[in-house]
Amino acid sequence: MHRLTLTIMACLLSCLALTAQEERERFVSDLMAKMTVEEKIGQLNLMPGSSFSTGEQKDSPLLQLAAEGKLGAVLNMSGEKDLRLLQDAANRKSRLGIPVMAGLDVIHGYETVFPIPLAMSCSWDMEAIEQSARIAAKEATADGICWTFSPMVDIALDARWGRIAEGSGEDPFLGGCIAEAMVRGYQGNFSEQNMMACVKHYALYGAAEAGRDYNTVDMSRIRMFNQYFPPYKAAAKAGAGSFMTSFNIVDYLPATANRWLLDYVLRKGWGWKGFIVTDYGAIDEIAAHGLGNLSKASAMALKAGTDMDMCSGGFIKTLTQSLDEGKITLQDIDTACKRVLEAKYRLGLFHNPYRFLDSKRRSTDIFTPEHRRFARQMAAKTFVLLKNDGNILPLKPQGRIALIGPMAHNRANMAGTWAPMARRSEIVSLKEAMEQRLEDKAHIDYAQGCNFTGDPVLQADGGAWIAAPWKNPDTLLVEAISAAEKADMIICAMGEESEMSGESHCRASLEIFDAQQRLLEQLLKLGKPIVLLNFAGRPTVMTWEQNHIPAIMNVWFGGSEASDAICDVLFGEAVPSGKLTVSMPQATGQEPLYYNQLPTGRPVGENAQRFRLYKSNYLDVRNDPLYPFGYGLSYTTFDYSDITLEGRTATVRVSNTGNYDADEIVQLYIHDVEASISRPVKELKGFKRIHLAKGESTQVSFTITDDMLSFYNQELEYVLEPGDFEIMIGPDSSMKNLKKATLSITD
Ligand code: BGC
Repeated sequence: MHRLTLTIMACLLSCLALTAQEERERFVSDLMAKMTVEEKIGQLNLMPGSSFSTGEQKDSPLLQLAAEGKLGAVLNMSGEKDLRLLQDAANRKSRLGIPVMAGLDVIHGYETVFPIPLAMSCSWDMEAIEQSARIAAKEATADGICWTFSPMVDIALDARWGRIAEGSGEDPFLGGCIAEAMVRGYQGNFSEQNMMACVKHYALYGAAEAGRDYNTVDMSRIRMFNQYFPPYKAAAKAGAGSFMTSFNIVDYLPATANRWLLDYVLRKGWGWKGFIVTDYGAIDEIAAHGLGNLSKASAMALKAGTDMDMCSGGFIKTLTQSLDEGKITLQDIDTACKRVLEAKYRLGLFHNPYRFLDSKRRSTDIFTPEHRRFARQMAAKTFVLLKNDGNILPLKPQGRIALIGPMAHNRANMAGTWAPMARRSEIVSLKEAMEQRLEDKAHIDYAQGCNFTGDPVLQADGGAWIAAPWKNPDTLLVEAISAAEKADMIICAMGEESEMSGESHCRASLEIFDAQQRLLEQLLKLGKPIVLLNFAGRPTVMTWEQNHIPAIMNVWFGGSEASDAICDVLFGEAVPSGKLTVSMPQATGQEPLYYNQLPTGRPVGENAQRFRLYKSNYLDVRNDPLYPFGYGLSYTTFDYSDITLEGRTATVRVSNTGNYDADEIVQLYIHDVEASISRPVKELKGFKRIHLAKGESTQVSFTITDDMLSFYNQELEYVLEPGDFEIMIGPDSSMKNLKKATLSITD
């Protein structure tokens, strides 16, 4: 096409874009001109819908609020019927008819449940992750939801923290790619099958000290910018419509009341234009942080740049008075209100408040065979094969198989944490899936074998988690041994219950529970091949298991289709390709453990086998992880050539040298050899997921961009400092598996 024509078209397009924005702004400012202060504050109010139910609707305080124009949004309420009542109240009864937004934690799928986010990150498959978000949006919007509190993009380095299950692990670069993919998947082009993303928890929520949820955070700004902020920034750049503040303090101020964080970094620094909602009751918690009562906290939060109050009731109860007392200005309220209304406009709610309330869609768009098929493929991509001595896996579908463990016949735990809409009665257990798969080919002997934990004391007090029913351990053991004695081989399905990770579910020890390890010891004595399937929402310490069990696969919590996906991989219909996005420790005491650490002045060296005096190490455990970041085996093997470096392009030849067609995730790491500040020993800067048939090989190239070499310096300027950079390419982050070359950058 002619250059001039292209320029005119580009110009027209940008004019059109401007017009759409101008139109939105005009609409919102016309509307705001008609609003009272109370109505404006009402838009900043988000309330829970869980207490609402059809039947008592007339008296529902929520309907009352909506009818008075004092409700901006609702959370934890889904379904066309209830949401229609609420929308009717807002749209038909309130003075200006401003629609409400319905938000929910759609974290890893809706009724079709995908693997937990930590598992999904182990697929390193951006298209699949985006597609999972797209499907989640399609299902949730068919049930009235137009806003999801996802993606959670908090970097988590400490596996004790239960919410590590909900994020994408320890790496800022990979975390950024996933954040973008999820925002794209959820929001698309804001059709009626898309919902608005809410990036959380801004910021540093994953850095809670000692891995204890809601605990304090203290870190340097350099570290924030280089290691923790990149996924938030990537999500902001991808156009996420909203952000959620975190519960923790940042630089000694609660994130919700932190102007530097919200206004200076997110809005001014990254140029992001969306609205900010607090986490659940976070304004209320400002008092507990020691910064003043609800009224003061609400004023601080608003002035800092928070636009919507989730469930504290602080804005609705106190802002009018704070305005009268001159603690906030009308401009502060207007700014927040404008952002919320613009989000509703983007969602198309002003054009049609009932846009997401199409009763027909529930039966056609939710839990469809197509969605479930996709979820099954997705789950298979997330399993990480940690050990496979003697190529025990894949298994032949024959003979007699003992299936043992507390996860072997356990439907309730398959979906994983944060799956409130899962159709639990339609989820099959591993035993059921395996029996169906092997019907005429093999015989399955099932036994629970043990309880999850050694004693029944671990019970939730007022929370959501109820431990599985307790059974007599001696009886369970007898049943397991009897099943195993008859079998040719043993599959153990063990690990955590799904609610042992997730919000507020932190653990001080990451080892497989004693009760389970004791069972493994007894089974080993039978001298039969054993495969351990580890179900977990976080890294597990499996040092003993690595030393004794021949085959180990981490299956996380794989969602509604997990059982079938596990069978696909166990019996070779799918080849494992997942790679860890978190370092798996040898001992809990190594936490926080992560690969992209800063060097010390007394390095011990990666291969040090024993304790070394006056070096940075422990007396009783080596520094390296049991399984490193990026690690994961396949049924086939891959060979990597040395790197050829031509200009800025680094290339390796990767060959599939085994017997299966398979996917490999090729990883690029960079180390800045000398800089103005200390720089990590290595950082992931690129990756490619490739498919190779057996015997096939291919060249994989990475172009080293300025961005890959840059970092935030002491002045928090983003700089590329000339000098030498070590370029490393390989199948995981361990030095012994990486090919190396040096790239020199001159001025
Ligand atoms: C969690 C958020 C969640 C919110 C609403 C909070 O307790 O920290 O991640 O989005 O509740 O359910």
